[in-house]
Amino acid sequence: MYIHNLSKQNSVLNRFISEIRDTNVQQDNMRFRRNIERIGEILGYELSKTFGFVSKHVTTPLGICETTDFNNDIVLCSILRAGVPLHNGLLNYFDTAENAFISAYRHHKDNPESFEIVVEYLACPDLSNKTLILADPMLATGQSMLATFKALQPFGNPKEIHLVSVIGAKNGVDYVTSEFPKHTHLWIAAVDKELNNKGYIVPGLGDAGDLSFGEKLQK
Ligand code: URA
Repeated sequence: MYIHNLSKQNSVLNRFISEIRDTNVQQDNMRFRRNIERIGEILGYELSKTFGFVSKHVTTPLGICETTDFNNDIVLCSILRAGVPLHNGLLNYFDTAENAFISAYRHHKDNPESFEIVVEYLACPDLSNKTLILADPMLATGQSMLATFKALQPFGNPKEIHLVSVIGAKNGVDYVTSEFPKHTHLWIAAVDKELNNKGYIVPGLGDAGDLSFGEKLQK
C-alpha cells in the first residue's frame, strides 16, 4: 500500500478538515458537504499525479500548443450515502469518469459494539483494466472498503486501485494495508489515533452521513 497522508504537509486542506470537525461549523450542513467536496477535489488532484500522461496538441485561436493529458479510464465508486459529497468532489475533476455506487452499512445484531457490513445495492460498469477510485469519507475499521472491493470483483480486474478517504483511524489504515493488493494507493486527508467502542473515529467528526444529509431513523 502506498499511503499518501496529505495533512503531513500544511496547506489550505487543513482549514477544510478543521471546519468539518468543528461542532459549531457542523451546524451548517451545506458547508459540511461543500468542504467534503473540496477535500475530494484536492485528493483527486494529488492522485492524478500518478496517472499515465501522453503528449497532445491543442489548437488555440493563436496557434498550436503542445501539452499533456492523461489517458486513464476512471471508474469512481462511492459507498452510499456518506460517500456522495466526496464522489461529487472527485467527479468535479474527473468529469468523464464512469460511476459505480454501492450501499454498505453496519448491521448491529444484538450487541451495539459489534457489527457486520451488509452490502445491498450495487451498480457498476466493467472494471477491466481501468483505474478504480474507491471513495469512503471515514476509514474507521476499513471493513466497508474491503466489503465493497470484494463485491466489485465480478466486474473485472482494475489496472490500478486508489482508495480515497477524508479521515481515517490508524486501525482502518492498517487493515486496508494488510487486505488490499500491494500496489493499491491510499489518499487520505487526516489519520486519527483511535476508534471508540462503537467503531467511530476519535476525535474524528461524528457521523459523516448524518452531517451531510440529516439524522437517520434509528430502528
Ligand atoms: N462513519 C462515520 O461517519 N464516522 C466515523 O467516525 C466512523 C464511520
